[in-house]
Amino acid sequence: MNKYELRVMVLTGGLLSIFLFALLYNTFSRKIDVPTCVPYTGAFKKPHIKKVDNLTYEVYSVAHMWAFEPNEITIPAGSTIDLYLTSSDVVHGYNIVLKGINLMAVPGGVSKTKITFNDAGIYRVVCHEYCGSGHQYMMGKIIVTDK
Ligand code: CUA
Repeated sequence: MNKYELRVMVLTGGLLSIFLFALLYNTFSRKIDVPTCVPYTGAFKKPHIKKVDNLTYEVYSVAHMWAFEPNEITIPAGSTIDLYLTSSDVVHGYNIVLKGINLMAVPGGVSKTKITFNDAGIYRVVCHEYCGSGHQYMMGKIIVTDK
């Protein structure tokens, strides 16, 4: 080993120590945690489905590790949903498989879309953004009943 290799190794070790110290310092002494930030607290305090009329619904949905709330949405065929989506921890995905709907659930932000369900059936919702160890179990469903 020549003296340049040694210098690079010492420098690398020093930098890694600084990064590790900064990480541990921020984690423990400043109590930095996964942020919880849900906007429009009134609407999202309790995730819910609001019936506007027989064929129009507003859904205020919150994604979190590792579920969607509300987890099951039941509506009659022909209905339109205005979906407002946010997250209370990390970034999640909201993919309605049979409808080709892809939304991101972002903490601090609201994703919005309008979806019409003309055909009865069960539409699976899956999280398609890796969000931790329970990611693959994170799913919900939209049940569209016959008129
Ligand atoms: Cu939530 Cu993956």
